[in-house]
Amino acid sequence: MIQQYLLIVGVFLAYWLYKRYYLSVRFFKDNNIPQPPIIDFFRGNGHQVNDHAETKRNITKYHNLLGETFGITSGASSLLLTTDANLLYKVFKEQSSLHVNRGDTLMPSDLMNDCSLLANENADWARCRGIIGPELTLNKLKREDIQRDLNDAAESVCQYLRRRANPDTVIDAGKLFKTFTLDTVLRATFDQRGQVDYESTDNYALNCLERIVQCIYHPAFVCIQYVPILRPILMLLDRVTTNFRGTVVGVANNALENPAVSSDGPRMKHKLLDAFKAGRLSQAELWGNAAFMAAAGWDTTAQALAALVWLLAAHPEKQTKLRDDIVRDGHQSHYLDWCIRETLRLYPPAFTARQLAHDIEWKGMTMRKGLMVIPSIFELHKKPEYWGDDADVFRPERFAPEEACKHHKAQFFAFGMGPRNCVGAKLAMLEMQMLISRLITEYSIQFCDKSPKFLDIYCPLIFVPVIRDSVILKFVKI
Ligand code: HEM
Repeated sequence: MIQQYLLIVGVFLAYWLYKRYYLSVRFFKDNNIPQPPIIDFFRGNGHQVNDHAETKRNITKYHNLLGETFGITSGASSLLLTTDANLLYKVFKEQSSLHVNRGDTLMPSDLMNDCSLLANENADWARCRGIIGPELTLNKLKREDIQRDLNDAAESVCQYLRRRANPDTVIDAGKLFKTFTLDTVLRATFDQRGQVDYESTDNYALNCLERIVQCIYHPAFVCIQYVPILRPILMLLDRVTTNFRGTVVGVANNALENPAVSSDGPRMKHKLLDAFKAGRLSQAELWGNAAFMAAAGWDTTAQALAALVWLLAAHPEKQTKLRDDIVRDGHQSHYLDWCIRETLRLYPPAFTARQLAHDIEWKGMTMRKGLMVIPSIFELHKKPEYWGDDADVFRPERFAPEEACKHHKAQFFAFGMGPRNCVGAKLAMLEMQMLISRLITEYSIQFCDKSPKFLDIYCPLIFVPVIRDSVILKFVKI
């Protein structure tokens, strides 16, 4: 009996080792795809790129060395990084009905991994997107009560600033904006007001979201990246290690409580609850989507806002131009829209992928079914071929219609592309427009001694971009 067990374990181990060897050493070579040097048969070349502090610089280095497309092995996944807008357009848009999925995110919980828009697949994704998408269209967001809620959240930020001493109010903008974006997502989609205390760091929802991010970096869960088969065991251990699932459920329940519909009509929360009652969403999908919605709409928008105010402090002439434009046109100012897009170009706060559903032959390379195609967003957004020789410069005018109409359809990827693009993009743009139009007409935003001299990005989790330093700035009352 024991021999049989040993044999099974031996066969499993041999298969797993062969698979690691194949993925790390052979896969890209056999398919004629350039790759960074291989470290060893176990780790492949993923660590050549994925190195938290240096990831962004490594990506640049290997694009310079290997060209616009190269492959890496990250844990158990094969990834293709590319700045080729034609390839991205083909995969994300032209063949979007085929390459629907993002691939296994290997998150340490079924709720995020299989039961939310983050990573659910095919018909499950279409069903969930069909429930959530219509609640975040521009028409819905233009509803008077939602506009009022967004305005109230922006007013809370202004009140917070007013309570600080003038004339030199020094603020950690990143921290303040995280509170604001959580407030707006809870108001606009979950019909929840007063959940967020701008004065206190002891905020239940905010603490849970920070905890979710911390849990993902836990060594037990980093193991899943290499040995996905261990996920069920590590998920059982979860209560001892991080209680990731419990935290996700906490965020979801916090957002879903008080199901009463506000007098002006239902919000996304009510649609989710109705779909659950009608059997169109499982309990896990209800939790997973509620928590992911809060998580996806929070840090991304806060980072974009922090980068934007930093760029405005670094370019006072653009700040003055923006102020004049907002005084004239309010939050619908075109220049404000261009400033936000230019910020998202220089500091994109998210990344994405599509898993190929069939092989693609492309420029002499064979891209195999299962490969995850990832826009190399930092490089794509600065590629001189698409953006010109001043690609490093903050120049919002490049998004003016006369220039933007010449852009390649896939050279700007901040909100992804195709039918699976960012479902919250309209909300994100609206909340940024509403807050910045208030701030910029009340305050002049300036550097102080503690302001970072440049905004460094690091990638603590694969390619998720995070601004490294606190964005501390001076808000001077005009
Ligand atoms: C500046 C802010 C934001 C940025 C840059 C951003 C970026 C992205 C990107 C790049 C994707 C992947 C798209 C793709 O695969 O093609 C995505 C997906 C998603 N985002 Fe956003 N996002 C932002 C704000 C928000 C907000 C405010 C919400 C929620 C209210 C949100 C919810 C989501 C969801 C649910 C998905 C998954 C969509 C799906 O798979 O169907 N995001 N986002």
